[in-house]
Amino acid sequence: MRKPIIAGNWKMFKTVSEAESFFSEVKGKAEVEGVESVICAPFTALPALVQAAKGTSIAIGAQNLHFEDSGAYTGEVSGIMLKELGVKYVIIGHSERRAYFAETDEIVNKKVHAAFRHGLTPIVCVGEKLEEREAGQTKDVCKTQTVAAFQGLSAEQAAEVVIAYEPIWAIGTGKSSTAADAQDVIGYIRGIVASLYGETTASAVRIQYGGSVKPNNVAEYMREADIDGALVGGASLEPASYIALVEGAK
Ligand code: G3H
Repeated sequence: MRKPIIAGNWKMFKTVSEAESFFSEVKGKAEVEGVESVICAPFTALPALVQAAKGTSIAIGAQNLHFEDSGAYTGEVSGIMLKELGVKYVIIGHSERRAYFAETDEIVNKKVHAAFRHGLTPIVCVGEKLEEREAGQTKDVCKTQTVAAFQGLSAEQAAEVVIAYEPIWAIGTGKSSTAADAQDVIGYIRGIVASLYGETTASAVRIQYGGSVKPNNVAEYMREADIDGALVGGASLEPASYIALVEGAK
């Protein structure tokens, strides 16, 4: 009953012309019945991508937003601006933003609320560092991050959130979590949502795995009961690879 969702996170890659050329190659192909296909691009490429995606089933997402709607925040972009563009999703709390831009759990929560204020669907990233995994703290870290991200959300909003479980040691390293390990943590995260909002809400929330997902391993993750898709960095940058990821999520 949960629709699988493949989201490409381009990170700081692709100019506007590169984004347009990518889109013309995936149009009609990275569109598979029963799978949601989302491209999360740099801010500069969003207007062109939203235009190009009109009439297709591919949704466009941003990779960040500010938690205020407007104000003296030089260099920032708000939910109100993204909504007017026609952006549907926004990644919040990616580990790179937590690590390099000092995003705390509290900021992540404010951003989740900002997304909902403007009708954007948040893709909230959670996940442990290598040293936390080695110390046996994976589930505690995911619990803390999940509880904080959902603070103050209604059950209706909670059901709309997409969670991306991304073990940090697996991002861009080629060292992916096994499907069984990812299922173990993702099932646990779903249990956290159930403890906050009940089983009905928890069973509606989509939870992705992220970290070195490729066309040749995406199907393994999709076979697991609680894994509803993938948040993909490197392998989402090439059209053929992105198409294969969306097809592999069927
Ligand atoms: O947001 C995507 C993740 O950080 C995963 O990146 O697929 O390059 O490992 P990756």
